[in-house]
Amino acid sequence: MTHNRSSWKSNAGFLFAAVGSAIGLGNIWRFSYMAHQHGGGAFLVPYLVALIIAGIPIMILEYGIGHREKGSSPLSFARIGGRFEWLGWWMPVVAMFGIMLYYSVVIGWCVNYLFYAFKLSWGTDTQGFFFKQFLQISESASDFGGVRVPIAFSTLLVWVLCWMICFRDIRHGIERASMIFMPIMFLLTIIIVLWTLFLDGASDAILKHYLHADWSKINIFSMDASVRSEAGKVWTAAFGQIFFTLSLGFGIMITYASYLPDKSNISKNAYITSIINCLYSFIAGFAVFGIVGFMAQSQGVPFEEAIKGGPQLAFVIYPKAIAMLPSFNVLFGVLFFLMLVIAGITSGVSLVEAFTCSVTDKFDWPRNLVVTLICVTGFLGSLVFTTRAGLYLLDIADHFITNYGLVLGGLLECMIIGWVFKASKLQSYINSRGTSIPAIWNVLIRYTTPGLLGYFLYLSLAGDLDKNYGDYPTDQLIIYGVGWMLICLVVALAFAFSTWKPEKLKRRHQPEEDDLLV
Ligand code: PHE
Repeated sequence: MTHNRSSWKSNAGFLFAAVGSAIGLGNIWRFSYMAHQHGGGAFLVPYLVALIIAGIPIMILEYGIGHREKGSSPLSFARIGGRFEWLGWWMPVVAMFGIMLYYSVVIGWCVNYLFYAFKLSWGTDTQGFFFKQFLQISESASDFGGVRVPIAFSTLLVWVLCWMICFRDIRHGIERASMIFMPIMFLLTIIIVLWTLFLDGASDAILKHYLHADWSKINIFSMDASVRSEAGKVWTAAFGQIFFTLSLGFGIMITYASYLPDKSNISKNAYITSIINCLYSFIAGFAVFGIVGFMAQSQGVPFEEAIKGGPQLAFVIYPKAIAMLPSFNVLFGVLFFLMLVIAGITSGVSLVEAFTCSVTDKFDWPRNLVVTLICVTGFLGSLVFTTRAGLYLLDIADHFITNYGLVLGGLLECMIIGWVFKASKLQSYINSRGTSIPAIWNVLIRYTTPGLLGYFLYLSLAGDLDKNYGDYPTDQLIIYGVGWMLICLVVALAFAFSTWKPEKLKRRHQPEEDDLLV
């Protein structure tokens, strides 16, 4: 209930949880294949620009709103203005039904692979193992071909873990779990990165392919229209990745900040979360490019031939490289997949939390009941992605949700806060609580960020209309991509339609004395 809203035990606990949400499969699995696909080192430039222009400013905005309104995203937006409540719902609904349903399945794959690692069961033909034996992939996205039982089991395990962590209140659930899991995950990452750096061929590949840039791929000012349009895609992907990786546009950071005590340094927390997250991706990239370099050298093939994009990176390339390591293969495999599972779980719980908090804020139902309902529904929903067509569906859903759903959510968020609520009001609120944010934040939130996001949205749309994403047939893209987003919108509107108890919309309460942290 809002009046005895739970809170973080310490600011460090909040940071661990927020960084836990931000660092996930996206940092290791998604970031690396995005970087590779989009010009290697050159991708780091749009990525950094996206971090500075959109990532950090929106992180500050989300923390500021959640903290000021003391509510989940629907409650916060409803307090700002009733007509914006639907956006407050759209974000956690997309998080829950757009992302978590497939995200939990990918964590499930990692769980399966964690077990396979003990016996290196993937053998030498890791590609055949992943597609034919493990996924038993069907012919097309419309050919479901039944649920893959091992994947369904591991997905169930993921949901049970999320349920156990979210079941308890924020302090005893997510905060405690993050304080335990995050240090373990950082340690595992350091071990994996250092281990990789010492492999033959690793550092060479890092220098030549990761830190070396193909500038032509990011030149949006080129005179050549086709170069410009390709570069546009890279920039859009970088902005999409920043939203995804920082967990922005889902209502998660709004919710997490709503549990912060009154005296909290909002902007400092935003800088810390964003920078740690992106630094983590950058460092994890060394491990990914390094291991591919090692593999390429051992097989005597060029780097470009050894690396593969998409999910294959973690589930085809890594297993192959692990099998080729000179020693301690099993240990490396277990540590790597354990790292992925932990990274995934701490993000998964934040997706569940954003939706849970939205529902409990509005309906006042008991938290454990809501969490249980959400996890059961979530598991049932994610079964779609455990079918033999799962990989196709996941790929389409991910493309539409990240390129449209998130970017659109972020754009509207900036417009509403920037123009209706007034960025300057939020700015003075944030400045009165801690480190002042630069005056340019106001300009970024009102003009630059929404302008750029709108432009990238247009580019994605133009690109998708011009050529079907991933060469999927149009009807499948419409059903699974556009249809999926429309369902999210309908669900969001349905939730927004029911009325609030009037006392809920009153301004935030002042926290208890003992809630205050310095
Ligand atoms: N930020 C997480 C990652 O990079 C994923 C995530 C997305 C988590 C959305 C929560 C919400 O993997």
